[in-house]
Amino acid sequence: MAVSPILLLLAIFSLIYGNGILPIEATHHVYRNLQTLSSDSSDQPYRTAYHFQPPKNWINDPNGPMRYKGLYHLFYQYNPKGAVWGNIVWAHSVSKDLVNWTPLDHAIYPSQPSDINGCWSGSATILPGGKPAILYTGIDPNNHQVQNLALPKNMSDPLLREWVKSPKNPLMAPTSANMINSSSFRDPTTAWLGKDGYWRVLIGSKIHTRGMAILYKSKNFVNWVQAKQPLHSAEGTGMWECPDFYPVLNNKPSSTIGLDTSVNGDNVRHVLKVSLDDKKHDHYLIGTYDIAKDIFTPDNGFEDSQTVLRYDYGKYYASKTIFEDGKNRRVLLGWVNESSSVSDDIKKGWAGIHTIPRAIWLHKSGKQLVQWPVVELESLRVNPVHWPTKVVKGGEMLQVTGVTAAQADVEISFDVNEFGKGEVLDQWVDPQILCSRKGAAVKGGLGPFGLLVFASRGLQEYTAVFFRIFRYQNKNLVLMCSDQSRSSLNKDNDMTTYGTFVDMDPLHEKLSLRTLIDHSVVESFGGEGRACITARVYPTIAINEKAQLYAFNNGTAAVKITRLSAWSMEKAKIN
Ligand SMILES: *[C@@H]1O[C@H](CO)[C@@H](O)[C@H](O)[C@H]1NC(C)=O
Ligand SMILES: *[C@@H]1O[C@H](CO)[C@@H](O)[C@H](O)[C@H]1NC(C)=O
Ligand SMILES: *[C@@H]1O[C@H](CO)[C@@H](O)[C@H](O)[C@H]1NC(C)=O
Ligand SMILES: *[C@@H]1O[C@H](CO)[C@@H](O)[C@H](O)[C@H]1NC(C)=O
Repeated sequence: MAVSPILLLLAIFSLIYGNGILPIEATHHVYRNLQTLSSDSSDQPYRTAYHFQPPKNWINDPNGPMRYKGLYHLFYQYNPKGAVWGNIVWAHSVSKDLVNWTPLDHAIYPSQPSDINGCWSGSATILPGGKPAILYTGIDPNNHQVQNLALPKNMSDPLLREWVKSPKNPLMAPTSANMINSSSFRDPTTAWLGKDGYWRVLIGSKIHTRGMAILYKSKNFVNWVQAKQPLHSAEGTGMWECPDFYPVLNNKPSSTIGLDTSVNGDNVRHVLKVSLDDKKHDHYLIGTYDIAKDIFTPDNGFEDSQTVLRYDYGKYYASKTIFEDGKNRRVLLGWVNESSSVSDDIKKGWAGIHTIPRAIWLHKSGKQLVQWPVVELESLRVNPVHWPTKVVKGGEMLQVTGVTAAQADVEISFDVNEFGKGEVLDQWVDPQILCSRKGAAVKGGLGPFGLLVFASRGLQEYTAVFFRIFRYQNKNLVLMCSDQSRSSLNKDNDMTTYGTFVDMDPLHEKLSLRTLIDHSVVESFGGEGRACITARVYPTIAINEKAQLYAFNNGTAAVKITRLSAWSMEKAKIN
């Protein structure tokens, strides 16, 4: 294993200062000695204009999102002292529209024994009568992970500025009786209420390599009793972080309506999402939930790699949904970490962003979820550019002019018909591997065609988001890729290529792609939201007004652009 210079440096510092690196838990390291370096604010080409981020420092998971008295509340894991993980508190911002955000003082920070070593992730539940309750993971004096409750101090304050912790904390803790691993017990979900009057909540955990969602029940939200069985578990999946469990409507024709977390019954299916700590991906299962027996039976397991479902096939983790009463929609929030080196993060003084909030619902096939940026985002669109239908021949590149290419929203649809030119795929291949073998620079039959974003004039740098259509088992198989291999001349960045198959029939459907471009993030939605890929890129030439945007086709078959609409995006007021 290669040791990076920064880690060597840290090791030296830790020798000098004793505890430069304080391992609390396998994936969380405190870079004590690096937490006071300040940022260089003069040159910040990678700060986003309309994605959520604080003015500086490290952020990770979205926590306890909720809507209260007409305001959205977003809490998030935050290090007030630096651009690396550590000193974690719940920072707090509010919004009227999920687009513009106002910062408030930290809502939850270490103040009692049950959270004195950290306030980690958790969720909000709106109790009957409209009172919000937050369950979160605290790190106690023994560095054990325990679950705590916090309630608003003043329900009349729409900003919910102050939170009071229960004197009964911790409400759930590892003991010698329950045998729960005290280093693997975290991230309570939003609770749901059964007809039996019991609240239920899940906590992520594992036993050896079996990941699990431990179920607890309570009548009063304070006294919680562990159920005999976890709601679900799977061998070999490792620690389950940030579980999320919610109902979706199984209506045909498909409906985008979301359901309250406690809803169950006919026409309802359930989604269990877990953030797999070993893989650093958010996976989900669709299944049936029997609330009387508290058993969740998924349609497919984690075992079969061909049916595995992810919210996002790029960089995306620790997500959480909220149900919005009144708007009848479920909204998904997620964290995207940096692909730059730790030393570059420290230099720029910040690390981590959140994705654009996405509405989420069950696809009419019943086999997967669909995600789409919340409609409120469109309020930032200005200066639209619309193209008439255009044919793009093999090898052609068409520049999209008239938009700020480093800060844009682009929707493009392709019509293909020369299906005979699709390359034949003899056996199933992992789509991410297929995308890295056949990147944008590898000519094909039907594709690659799509968008080149953050492109420099001479194409020394570009990120390609594209489709390629294969012939597999006598059907057309659509591959969607986000190819970062040429995204930057700075090779210190992680430039991994991402990919997924899109479950769609290009004979009868147009191949659509929407890409949100924002300085260092490329957030793409293929097949009308059936496949999402988020990437982080750090071009050195193609920054700000030097970034170009193109539609391209590097296949032998011509393709037709049936729609291209692009907008410059205004800067949102974020924190
Ligand atoms: C509660 O919040 C309301 C609205 O912000 C405010 O008017 C009131 O003074 C607060 N009450 C207390 C006890 O702080
Ligand atoms: C408990 O969790 C920690 C952290 O992941 C791990 O190192 C340890 O092996 C676990 N113990 C058991 C018995 O699984
Ligand atoms: C963050 O990014 C790095 C490198 O790009 C990756 O290896 C790591 O697993 C990521 N962490 C999470 C929690 O997503
Ligand atoms: C298209 O393919 C050619 C030949 O492989 C390659 O040189 C060129 O860079 C490709 N175009 C893009 C945008 O990748």
